Amino acid sequence: MATQSGGGQKPFHIVSPLLESLALSRAGGTKVYMKLENVQPTGSFKIRGVGHLCQTAAKKGCCRFICSSGGNAGLAAAYAAKKLGLPITVVVPSTTGPVTVRRLEELGAEVEVSGQVWDEANRRAQELAQTKGWVSIHPFDHPLVWEGHASLVQELKDSLETKPDAILLAVGGGGLLAGVVAGLHQVGWQDIPIIAAETWGAHSFHAALAAGRLVTLPDITSVAKCLGAKTVAARALECAQECQVISQVVEDAEAVRAVELGSVAKCLGAKTVAARALECAQECQVISQVVEDAEAVRAVEQCLVLGVGGASSIQGAQLQALKSQLGLE
Ligand SMILES: Cc1ncc(COP(=O)(O)O)c(C=O)c1O
Repeated sequence: MATQSGGGQKPFHIVSPLLESLALSRAGGTKVYMKLENVQPTGSFKIRGVGHLCQTAAKKGCCRFICSSGGNAGLAAAYAAKKLGLPITVVVPSTTGPVTVRRLEELGAEVEVSGQVWDEANRRAQELAQTKGWVSIHPFDHPLVWEGHASLVQELKDSLETKPDAILLAVGGGGLLAGVVAGLHQVGWQDIPIIAAETWGAHSFHAALAAGRLVTLPDITSVAKCLGAKTVAARALECAQECQVISQVVEDAEAVRAVELGSVAKCLGAKTVAARALECAQECQVISQVVEDAEAVRAVEQCLVLGVGGASSIQGAQLQALKSQLGLE
């Protein structure tokens, strides 16, 4: 059962499966589990926090949601708005693919395109959010978003027999990281190290950790456009003071190659998972890296949980375009 959201309302997310990946476990010589957030209603973990924020805002009374997101957060917000019977405008950057735009529209969202990266779309969303009765649904930087994401850790606690030795997750704006840290505190697991994965060119968390303060990247040059933020949430940086957070940054080319190899699908024996995970280049790459670079896993003695955040689908043509862009042919 999913835990109740604020005010006793049923949350919009489901309790997702946690599966041991035999292939990854064998490769790493440790038990490797995957939390399959791709089975959430909109294909990613985002519905946990974004759904919780939307439900709380609706209860307080609002006439429209406004969300800036080139992908999963926007889909989650549009889904929540539909469930709540409220209109929503989703501002997306021009890099957002037509498939995502169509899915947003199918969910009833009004889609506005503004800027080339999320930060620019977000600026426009913040302008619109000044309209009376409109409520901004931030994709990663809001305490209610973190509170919703924290449910992931409670679920891990409920389904694992022993405490994991590490948790691996992808960082975009840092909302997932903040939510997992909140969850770790809730269940008393704050001593578990977190491996925080980014791609170069979307490495705003890595840059902030190195500088000891928030850093704004000049641009998102990674192909992981849908989740990259030029600046992470301040809370993400605080999290690194409260828990051991190991930053790991990987190359785009490796990420795309990992996608093509379908390593996720191989591990789970399901092609559809790979298709969904394609957009989530960071996670795919790290999963593949964990397989290939056994050193990362050897450091983990018993159990590693991969936070498969899930992702909306990508078309074969988009993958092809990414390969050409990265000179992988
Ligand atoms: C599938 C997936 N994983 C991880 C992330 C990173 O989440 P956050 O922006 O909260 O760091 C995102 C962000 O969009 C995502 O879509």
